[in-house]
Amino acid sequence: LAIYGVTLIKNAPENEKECQKISERVAFAKKTHYGESFYVIAKEGTNNVAYLSNPLQLHTDLPYYRYKPGVILLHCLIQTKSKGGGNLLTDTFYIAEKLRKENRHVFETLSRTDVNWSDVGEEDGVSFHKIHRDPMISLDKYGNISVIRHSIPQRDSYFTVGIDEVKPWYKALKVFVEEIYMNAAHLKTQPGEILAIDNTRLVHGRLGYEDTKDAKRLLIGNYLDWDEIHSKLRVLGKSFEK
Ligand code: OGA
Ligand code: ZN
Repeated sequence: LAIYGVTLIKNAPENEKECQKISERVAFAKKTHYGESFYVIAKEGTNNVAYLSNPLQLHTDLPYYRYKPGVILLHCLIQTKSKGGGNLLTDTFYIAEKLRKENRHVFETLSRTDVNWSDVGEEDGVSFHKIHRDPMISLDKYGNISVIRHSIPQRDSYFTVGIDEVKPWYKALKVFVEEIYMNAAHLKTQPGEILAIDNTRLVHGRLGYEDTKDAKRLLIGNYLDWDEIHSKLRVLGKSFEK
């Protein structure tokens, strides 16, 4: 997970608490306004695209958090037998470096322009209104890519840039989006599999599927932070040295 940005855990028991257990073995789960564990299942009357059976465009989770979760664990409990429901994954660090080399203007536009990320709604009776401003490609003080943010439905309609910057930004976005789809890996997780994704680096998506009363699909997820994972890696490294 730390090297490639993704890993697949197999033979997970069919238990709703498995991601929670793994999180607690590493450290603890990161709580968000969607709770400590979240259920991805088609629901009626939702305003969240994840809770539909529609395709889910490539995205990072929770871009509107300043400290967005570092890692997503997605446990497949029930997979649809219909066509669709598969996962898409792209390494955006690879894409961003490719753009830096081949299409510098696009890279600079996406790494210099602030975007308003937002999520407004209600979960379990509690209202939330998140706003966070950061570019799609965040760089550290050395110019290295540190974090990617991308989620079309969670990009605010307010775009606080000069009018001249709007069209070039959308053109750059189009290039980025074409690249992430052209370079996406496809798989379809099955019951007993947990997909662990680096949410600072990869975008993930889902193909649409048929949802009926007796053909459901259910994933249960959890978030973790890299601070805790790296800490645990160091602790384990030390104990193995002995
Ligand atoms: C999500 C998500 C993936 C899936 O809910 O944010 O990415 O396969 N779900 O449904
Ligand atoms: Zn997601």
